[in-house]
Amino acid sequence: MTRVFNFSPGPCTLPTSVVNELGAELPDFNDAGMSLVEMSHRSPEYSEVHDDTVNRLKELYEMPDDVSVLLLQGGASLQYAMAPLNALAPGKRAAYINSGAWAKKAIADAKVIGDAYVAWSGEDVNFTRMPSPDEVAVEDNTSYVHLVSNETIGGIRMAEFADYGVPTVADMSSELLSRPIPWDRFDIVYGGAQKNAGPAGVTVVMVRQSVIDSAPTEMPNYLKYATHAKANSLSNTPPVFSIWAMNKMLRWIDDAGGLTAMEERAAQRSGKLYAAIDDSDGFYINPNDVADRSHTNIVFTMASPELEAAFLAESANHNMANLKGHRSVGGIRASIYNGLPDEAVDTLVDFMASFQKANS
Ligand SMILES: Cc1ncc(COP(=O)(O)O)c(C=O)c1O
Repeated sequence: MTRVFNFSPGPCTLPTSVVNELGAELPDFNDAGMSLVEMSHRSPEYSEVHDDTVNRLKELYEMPDDVSVLLLQGGASLQYAMAPLNALAPGKRAAYINSGAWAKKAIADAKVIGDAYVAWSGEDVNFTRMPSPDEVAVEDNTSYVHLVSNETIGGIRMAEFADYGVPTVADMSSELLSRPIPWDRFDIVYGGAQKNAGPAGVTVVMVRQSVIDSAPTEMPNYLKYATHAKANSLSNTPPVFSIWAMNKMLRWIDDAGGLTAMEERAAQRSGKLYAAIDDSDGFYINPNDVADRSHTNIVFTMASPELEAAFLAESANHNMANLKGHRSVGGIRASIYNGLPDEAVDTLVDFMASFQKANS
């Protein structure tokens, strides 16, 4: 079988070695006579995988002792509710940076739960950039600032994380395990595994003890961070397959040099694609501010939808898949997460040059 170069925004490509290992080990886990997904989540075999996954996350992220790792379900989408439920103190407000499509979803849910306001909006600049720290208007009586570190649809990212003077909560879905986290800035960081860190099904939530300790207690059990922190994310049945597969991804990332290596690789690979765009004399267009361009989701448009359709059709003939932009914005989007091989990026860069030549 030929593995296709899969630029999907998520779920997305995993390293071939990880996929192969999962396949080989699935039927009989450690000679147990059954697969891991058929075992109790309280079995010694699974416990080892579970604990090792938590420990690897702590090590890779160089997490301070007062940060707990929770392995939950419900995606980043559930965190749009759980973060305000746990971190928005009664009588206080929550500030949200509206950087695009995902931030808007976070804001909508936070408003259902409490007094959330927009501290900066990219609406006027058509979400082509992130705010500078002084543009974010944090009002008195604010519990936390919420940001989306990388807008997966718009293709912008925060190059630096500012200190807003209050706890900060981050949706890092499309940058999970592809950049280190400066812990002096954050109290809650969350993201689904299905982009840089494994298959769909497990959501990583990293949360400070101070948030857990000060959260309101009157809410359903599953929604409390304290429930999962106390039970080492085993209060209910965890998504065992996804955690096992993420464990393999964590080993792969470690072997590849850890998060600094992932960050440098993302910068270098996205740099090649932005160079192809910027050197195309306007044949390919990226609308975003150069400093805020995403390192994981590279978006561009062409002169007409017909040309874009031809690009997509022809790219498929060159072993590339899932380059179509999000249905809400159109255009082309190359998602280049950790598991995508370097050859995929090089193939796309070469294809962009030949397509331009043939269609100019
Ligand atoms: C930045 C961002 N936040 C949230 C989500 C939603 O994540 P989930 O599907 O895990 O709920 C996505 C999914 O693409 C995303 O890119």
